Amino acid sequence: RLAPLLAPSLLAADFGNLQFETERLATSAADWLHCDVMDGRFVPNISFGIPVLQAIHRHAQQPLDVHLMIEEPQHYLAAFRDAGAANITVHYEACTHLHRVIQQIKALGCRAGVALNPHTPVSVLTDIAADLDLVCVMSVNPGFGGQSFIPNTLRKVADLKELLLDNGSGALIEIDGGVTLDNASALVEAGADVLVAGSFVFNSPDPVKTLADLRAHLMA
Ligand code: DX5
Ligand code: ZN
Repeated sequence: RLAPLLAPSLLAADFGNLQFETERLATSAADWLHCDVMDGRFVPNISFGIPVLQAIHRHAQQPLDVHLMIEEPQHYLAAFRDAGAANITVHYEACTHLHRVIQQIKALGCRAGVALNPHTPVSVLTDIAADLDLVCVMSVNPGFGGQSFIPNTLRKVADLKELLLDNGSGALIEIDGGVTLDNASALVEAGADVLVAGSFVFNSPDPVKTLADLRAHLMA
């Protein structure tokens, strides 16, 4: 019986109908709404920022899980909190002073997360693991939805699970990128606590039903 949190990524939703997209998830199996912020610097794409997050927040029933794929995130943490972020995840690769950034996020009253690019080993988190609420393992290269899952992620999740246990960390393990019905169970069995899914959910004919199917598949 696998019961991870499900976090559909609005990156794959219809940006022309964000109120509709957000509201229809209210009664779905979604536990969090994953919001992908991209700056065209840290990643080679630009998605949306603070005002759009604020608009999503006005219509959302679930906590907003904000994934910052931006350089120098330290300058924008309070603005994202004020716009409605419940969780703020920054990239390991974007933070020279990661410990300080994590403390800042927590001081704002948000859950603090760190995301790792596919090439970044989990071992870099050893000395900060106990301070984290969330670790986001990128299972694609960040910047775009709809990419295929990198299989090495499974081993990485298992290693991370062990690292968190060894360091007395209660951080949740989140997987982001290429999650589908085909890899969801294996990911949760390896130790994933939160599954992000964008195109699998929103490119389906009925996103609410797809989330329900994913939930049922994991409970079976
Ligand atoms: C990628 C984003 C992901 C993306 C996932 O840069 O961080 O959250 O929306 O999309 P899918 O599920 O389509 O890979
Ligand atoms: Zn993301």
